[in-house]
Amino acid sequence: MIKKETIDRIVETALVEEVVGDFVQLKKRGTSMIGLCPFHNEKSPSFNVSPAKGIYKCFGCGKGGDSISFVMEHEKYSYPEALKYLAKKYNIEIEESEITPEYQAEVDRRESLYIITNYAAKFFEKTMWDTLNGQTIGLSYFRERGFRDDIIKKFELGYSPDEWTALQDKAVADGYRPEFLEETGLTVKNDSGKVYDRFRGRVMFPIHNFTGRIIGFGGRTLKTDKNVPKYVNSPESDIYHKSNVLYGLFQAKKAIRDLGNCYLVEGYADVLSVQQAGVENVVASSGTSLTTEQIRLIGRFTKNVTILFDGDAAGIKASLRGLDMILEEGLDVKVVLFPDGHDPDSYIQKLGSAAFKTHIELKQQDFIFYKTQILLKEAANDPIKKAGVIREIIESIAKIPDAIKASVFVRECSGLLNVEERILIAELNKIKLTKLKKDYHQGSNSETRNHLPAAGGQKPENSQPETQSWQPEAGSSKPETLETDEYQERELIRVLITYGDVLVNWDEMTDTYIGPYIITNLSDITFNDKLCERVITYYHDELDKGIMPTEKTLIQHPDKEIKDLAIALISSPYMLSANWYNMHHINVPDEKTNLKATIMGAIFHLKKKKIATMVINKQKEMQAGNSEEQDNILMKDYLQLKEVEKYISNYLGSVIIK
Ligand code: UTP
Ligand code: MN
Repeated sequence: MIKKETIDRIVETALVEEVVGDFVQLKKRGTSMIGLCPFHNEKSPSFNVSPAKGIYKCFGCGKGGDSISFVMEHEKYSYPEALKYLAKKYNIEIEESEITPEYQAEVDRRESLYIITNYAAKFFEKTMWDTLNGQTIGLSYFRERGFRDDIIKKFELGYSPDEWTALQDKAVADGYRPEFLEETGLTVKNDSGKVYDRFRGRVMFPIHNFTGRIIGFGGRTLKTDKNVPKYVNSPESDIYHKSNVLYGLFQAKKAIRDLGNCYLVEGYADVLSVQQAGVENVVASSGTSLTTEQIRLIGRFTKNVTILFDGDAAGIKASLRGLDMILEEGLDVKVVLFPDGHDPDSYIQKLGSAAFKTHIELKQQDFIFYKTQILLKEAANDPIKKAGVIREIIESIAKIPDAIKASVFVRECSGLLNVEERILIAELNKIKLTKLKKDYHQGSNSETRNHLPAAGGQKPENSQPETQSWQPEAGSSKPETLETDEYQERELIRVLITYGDVLVNWDEMTDTYIGPYIITNLSDITFNDKLCERVITYYHDELDKGIMPTEKTLIQHPDKEIKDLAIALISSPYMLSANWYNMHHINVPDEKTNLKATIMGAIFHLKKKKIATMVINKQKEMQAGNSEEQDNILMKDYLQLKEVEKYISNYLGSVIIK
């Protein structure tokens, strides 16, 4: 029996459009997606997927459901099999247990924590709307701050009575167990064993998890006394883990996905005001510094984050580093500053929604440029400081996993910094090499990882610091995917572009161009990266026409994506190949003198990667409980693959390392 926590995680993680997208080609149409139904034969698409609702529905045959039922139906899996499939896809560890009475009690206990938290939220809400103190103190506070009733209701705000045991008394009278109040931190026990309510005389902000269940609270004081903490918050509990919660995400997630952007603010009040201004794609980090989990949470809905800063300079400088973390997760970061110490809330309340929206539109700036400007201003004309600025900027750029994007920033920052692009690239490569060497010595380099491709090419949630974090991204439809093949794929494309038109004589018999040589050797390989695949197809077609593509034709290619890729790959070879060279102790200038090793290395590394995946798949097939006859066939295939794998490894071992 799979544990409820595991099921919850699977349900939360498995986005319906991703799960379905593995089997059905989906096109965006308005807020939903549409494709050809896999359950019946049709020529025009009537199969609808709603990412916001997490469901699919076919208007032709009537089949419908969520991610799990899709897998069950499509793959003819049982419920547990479907869960296991999804767990594998998202690299979620399955915790299983027998249904013991203790287990059932644990499930019931967690459920009880949700129930009591929800009960408390309703109690605070009712207190605010239906009691005299609630109305005159709590509700009037919100209204005086300019919050409309619909926003107050949307966020289920409330008020906690200014008494020691109001919540506790009411809950116990209604039959709830005091221990659950304590476990969720709604009550506190002092040293002398007295139990009292944590939240007293405060306006209450319930905090929802991503699926909409209330898991904790922030309670704001109404006093201006500096000795009273402004906010009292629920402590961590079995249902509330602060590091992976964003305030307002539940109310914002649909808008975030639809609009393809997420505004990030600091406080509860900011979320309310921004929502009230009609901008619904907003979440708050709630005062704590942003965590990687929170960033990944956003990353599941959009790749674009816009940070709304209040305009205090010290705070901005302090946060610059935190923002690098967002870049590292492969998200695009923009920032907007507010003038005169305003935060989004005070700005909206003072100047109105229209001014706010205009301000965001006009003042948003890419994070890297913004950082460059701030640091440059600080350095003024001091050349030593300026060198420091360059390094800091390049450090940020080095965090961007997508090499193409990074090279665009390098180009543009070279203008801002008034420094030649190649100097910036050299600096960038230095940083990357240092990082690679460090990772290598820590034994977590890509070679060791390559032998353990995670199920479905996903990276584990709590993986080690990502050693290949600068790899090109896998594609926006799978935010958390780290397709490790793409590293080898791009390296291969790089050598193809760079050396394709070089004539060589490797077997001492016939002269051959490297380009056609590579293309012929790759005929049995499918690329994961669509863009790489396109370059290969283009190359192939040109060769068929009797034309030899060159570096120049690719750099000037009319297809902008191909062109950008070619430029990125050529202008900074280190970006994509440093890891490999580093591992084999080859300096990049050697690559030309040892061209055969370079080309064969690129081909065989890619093949090795593909074989490794095939081996894993074969192993999976063998575990599936087959007949003896099937097992024999699988075993034979398996051994053959291992043979090829060994051959390739030997080859790479003897040829590449000099
Ligand atoms: P702010 O002080 O900006 O809070 O802190 P705010 O929500 O905008 O409050 P107003 O406008 O003064 O009413 C930002 C966030 O930091 C956390 C809260 O999540 C708050 O929303 N915080 C702040 C605390 O947890 N405890 C505190 O004592 C202060
Ligand atoms: Mn505020």
